[in-house]
Amino acid sequence: MATFTSFKTRNSIVKRCISDDQTRLRLKYNPYYLPFDRQVGSHVWLDGKELIMLSSNDYLGLSDHPKVIEAGKKALEEWGSGTTGSRFANGSRYFHEKLESDLASFLGKEACHVSVAGYISCMSSIESFARKGDLIIVDRNVHSSLWAGIANTGARLERFGHNNIESLKEVLGQESPEITKMLVVEGVFSMEGHIANLPDYLTVIQNQNCFIVVDDAHGFGVLGKQGRGTVDYFGVTDQVDVIAGSMSKSMASTGGFVAGSTEIIEYLRTHSKQTVFSAALSPCQTACAQAALDVIKEEPEHLQHLWDNTRYYHKLLLDLGLDIWESKTPATPIVLGKIESAYYFWKKLMQKGVFTNIIPPPAVSPNKILIRTAISARHSKEDLEKIGEAMKFAAKGL
Ligand SMILES: Cc1ncc(COP(=O)(O)O)c(C=O)c1O
Repeated sequence: MATFTSFKTRNSIVKRCISDDQTRLRLKYNPYYLPFDRQVGSHVWLDGKELIMLSSNDYLGLSDHPKVIEAGKKALEEWGSGTTGSRFANGSRYFHEKLESDLASFLGKEACHVSVAGYISCMSSIESFARKGDLIIVDRNVHSSLWAGIANTGARLERFGHNNIESLKEVLGQESPEITKMLVVEGVFSMEGHIANLPDYLTVIQNQNCFIVVDDAHGFGVLGKQGRGTVDYFGVTDQVDVIAGSMSKSMASTGGFVAGSTEIIEYLRTHSKQTVFSAALSPCQTACAQAALDVIKEEPEHLQHLWDNTRYYHKLLLDLGLDIWESKTPATPIVLGKIESAYYFWKKLMQKGVFTNIIPPPAVSPNKILIRTAISARHSKEDLEKIGEAMKFAAKGL
C-alpha cells in the first residue's frame, strides 16, 4: 500500500521553500511587497495612511501626466488589452515600430527594439550577441538582468572593480587584444547612483575587439541633452554598440528597449529568445511610453525640476552627515552598513510618512546595506520639506 506523504514535506524542494531563512526574515520584518491602497502623483496610501513615495523610479514624474493617461486610455479602446503573440509571429503592430523609430532617433542610433520589460531587454542585449568562446568583461555591481543574460551565453567571464578603470586595465592586460570581447556596464548604477566613466572605458578598450553594452535604465530621461542618457551626456554615442534600458522609469510605463545599428538590432530580432518566444508589449503600455517620450522632448521643465530637486535633496542628506555613496544622480542610496540600522532608519521614515526601500545583500555587498531612495520631478517643495524633517528624525537615532 502506498504510504501517504504530507503535502508539506513531500520533496526536498518543498522542504527548502518551507525552511528558507531569507523568506522567514522577509515575512517577519515585512518591508517588501507592501500593497498600497491608492496613489496620487508622488503620494501613496498604505492601510489608509498617506506616505510620500521616495523610492519610485518615476524620475520625471510622468506616470500621471494627462497626456500619458489619455494615450493609454485611447490605445486600450482602439486596440484592446493585449497583443496575443510575439513580435516575431502575430504580435507586431505599427505603434511598436513608431515607438522604436522615435526612440532610436532620440538615442542617436539607427534602430531600436522594444520588449515587455527592461529586465528582458537588458538580458537579451547580452544573450543575443555573446556566445561560448567570447569573453565578457563586466563591472561587478551591474543589475541582475545583465547577470541573467551573461549566464545564458556560455561565454567566459571576468569581473572588474565597480567603476574602477585600473581594475579594467588589469583584466585587459591578461587577455590578447584579438579575443572577441563584450564590455558590460550600467550608465547610471541603479543602487549607487554613480555615473559610469564611459570616456575612460572607451579609451582603454580601443583596439581590443570589444562590443560595448550600456544598460542605461537609470540614465535615460535623466542625463544628456533632453534626457537622452549617459551615452549622450559623454558624447560617445557612436562608440557604444548597444544602449539597453527600461521604460518603467523615466518613461512612466513598463517595457524595455535595446538600441543600436540596424544590423545589430535585426540580428537581435533573429536570435533573441526573449523576443521570439515572448508576447509583444501591450498597446496601452506602448502608448504610455510613446506619450512619455513625446513629453520628454516637448516639456523640458520636468528634467529641470528633477535636477533642482536632486541638488536640494543631496545637500539635505549631506548636511545631516548621511552617507550617499557619492551619488551624482537622482538614484540616491543612504548607506547604513548594518541591516539593523537600515531597518531602524526605514521604520523611522515610515513613522514620519516617507516610503523607501531597504536593500540587503546580495543586491549590495554586506558592508553597503542601504536604504534606496530616488528623487522625482514630481516631489513638491512641501514634499521635500517633509522628507527633510523625516530624515532628521531618522538620523538622530542612529
Ligand atoms: C539597471 C537596471 N536594468 C534593468 C532593470 C529592469 O527594468 P524593468 O523594471 O523595466 O524590468 C532595472 C530595474 O530595476 C534596472 O535597475
